[in-house]
Amino acid sequence: MEEEIKQIIAEAKVAIAQVPEKELQVTLARYIGRKSKLTEILKSLGNLEINQRKIIGDLANRAKADIEAAFNERRLEIANQKQVDSMHRDVTLPGIKTETGHLSPITSINQELLDALIELGFEVVEGPEAELELNNFDLLNIPPDHPARDEWDTFWLKKGKNSKTSTLLRTHTSPVQIRYMQTHKPPIRIAAPGRTFRYEAEDATHSSVFSQMEGLMVDEKISVANLKAVIIHFVRKILGEDKQVRFRPSFFPFTEPSFEVDVWFNDQWLELMGCGMVNPQVLRNVGIDPEKYSGFAFGVGVERLAMLKHNIKDIRLFLSGDLRFIEQF
Ligand code: DAH
Repeated sequence: MEEEIKQIIAEAKVAIAQVPEKELQVTLARYIGRKSKLTEILKSLGNLEINQRKIIGDLANRAKADIEAAFNERRLEIANQKQVDSMHRDVTLPGIKTETGHLSPITSINQELLDALIELGFEVVEGPEAELELNNFDLLNIPPDHPARDEWDTFWLKKGKNSKTSTLLRTHTSPVQIRYMQTHKPPIRIAAPGRTFRYEAEDATHSSVFSQMEGLMVDEKISVANLKAVIIHFVRKILGEDKQVRFRPSFFPFTEPSFEVDVWFNDQWLELMGCGMVNPQVLRNVGIDPEKYSGFAFGVGVERLAMLKHNIKDIRLFLSGDLRFIEQF
C-alpha cells in the first residue's frame, strides 16, 4: 500500500506540472477527489491493524498535502505566465497615439517670458488675487477719486472704511511691486505673473479675467536704457529676433516718464504693454529713497502676446474650455 501511495504522488506531480489551466481542477480531483484511489485508501484504513493504520494514514494525508501543494504551485505558474504574456508587445506593430494633456498657450507664453527674464537675473514672485485697495491703487499713486482710477474698472470684494480695509480683485499685477518693495531693499529684479480682473463688458479683445506679467527693477543708476534693453530682449525672444520695437510716450500714475511699447507685426504697429520709470512718489510710498535709487517697471498682457504669436482672434477662447482650441497648441 505504501508503494501504491508513493506511485500516486509521483504520477500526480507529473500530471499537474504539465496540465493546462482548464484541466487543472479535474486533474486535482482525479488524484485527491472523492473517487480517487487516495480517498479509497483513506476510507479503508479501518480495516487495517492499528500500527499499519497509523503509518498508512499519515502517508496518505501527507500525499494529499503534497498533491495540493503541487496544484497551488501550478496555479501560480499559470497566473505568472498570463501576466508575462500580457506584457509582451509586438514593437513592429504601428503605434496608437495616446491622449496627452496640453499646456495652455497662456502657460507656455508665461514660461517663455519668465525664461527670458530669469536669464537676466529676475526672480519670480507672486501676489494675491484678492488685494487691498491700498496696494492696488493708493500706493501706486492712484489716489481715491482721481480720474485715473476709472482706467481700472474694479470688482469690489468688500468696501471697508478706507483703502486699508477695502478689498478687491486686483485689476493689474502692479500691486505685487508694492508688496515686494515693502519687504525687500534694492537691488530688486522681479517678474510677477498672475491673473487680473476687470469689471467690463467682454468682446473679442476684452475679457474680465486675464493674465499679466509685471516686471520691476530697482537699483542705483537705473535708466530708460535699462528699461529698453530688457523689454526688447524678451519681446524679440518671444516674437522673433527680427522684430522692431517702438517706445511711445504715455501716462501711468505709477511711472514717470511712461511709455507704451509697440511691435511691428504683420505690417502694422501693435500695442504690447505699458512701462516706465518708477514714479519717485511710489518709491517714497514704500520707503525707498528716490534720491539714491531709481527703477523701471512694465506690465504685459499675456493673452495679447499669445494672440499675436498664434494669430488668435478672440480673447474669450482662452477661458472657453473648448478642446478644439486648446489642442492646437
Ligand atoms: N498696470 C498697468 C495696467 O494694468 C500696466 C503697467 C503700465 C504696468 C506701466 C507697469 C507700468 O508696471 O510701469 O494697465
